[in-house]
Amino acid sequence: MGAPTIRVFDDPETLARAAAEAFARIVEEAVASRGRFVAAVSGGTTPRRTYETLAEGGDPPYRARLPWDSVWLFSGDERAVPPDDPQNNYRMLHRALLSKVPIPAGNVARFWSEGEPPDVVSGYHENRIRDFFGLAPGAWPRFDLVLLGMGADGHTASLFPGSEAVEETTRLAVAPWVESMGARRYSITLPVINHAAEVMFLVAGRDKADALRRVLEGGPSGAPLPAARVAPAGGRVTWMLDREAASALSHRP
Ligand code: 6PG
Repeated sequence: MGAPTIRVFDDPETLARAAAEAFARIVEEAVASRGRFVAAVSGGTTPRRTYETLAEGGDPPYRARLPWDSVWLFSGDERAVPPDDPQNNYRMLHRALLSKVPIPAGNVARFWSEGEPPDVVSGYHENRIRDFFGLAPGAWPRFDLVLLGMGADGHTASLFPGSEAVEETTRLAVAPWVESMGARRYSITLPVINHAAEVMFLVAGRDKADALRRVLEGGPSGAPLPAARVAPAGGRVTWMLDREAASALSHRP
């Protein structure tokens, strides 16, 4: 993997517009060369504006510009709450994007977070990924894009510092109990992320600045933060930042 690309924008709105355009160009390139675009997408709050921009923005509008029937989206991570819960990432994605663009319902695979027990939920999502990519045992999917955020503690997807889930080397999806959150999460694993063709982080807000400096510039000795473990050997990483999140970096790109 080469050095990550770091792009800094004045504010979250400008970041969202740039991220939507970057997403659109990856879609167009993937569909032109491989006939489809397949992404794993994270939740949280930062990507919402990007999803909304993909639904309502663009010139020409992304809603008309992009080949939505060739776009396939998999949930990258989820909270262990039903899809109608305000904390549910799929609910946010559906309200911001899926309900507004002509993407076939069958092209979207969420964690069935209302299911039980947790390992069945993550195992089912793993099988959907395996079946979609036609993976042989031991093989990994190559997503055209994995869209990620980063928490103030350096977590990404639902891979949190100190969690065994960060060290997973066999499964494609896991269902960790996150002590710091006092909650169950569902997440794709680092090997899935690190086999992607492209990874795009969307990070905004001053509360992320210290973790971002540690991830991008190295920090005190000790285990690297989960977001720092994202290093796709055969892929590219782009960090889309606002000035607040980038404020602790020693050299501003
Ligand atoms: C989640 C996300 C998570 C998120 C970070 C940043 O389920 O919360 O997938 O990894 O990307 O927590 O969240 P914000 O974008 O809300 O700051």
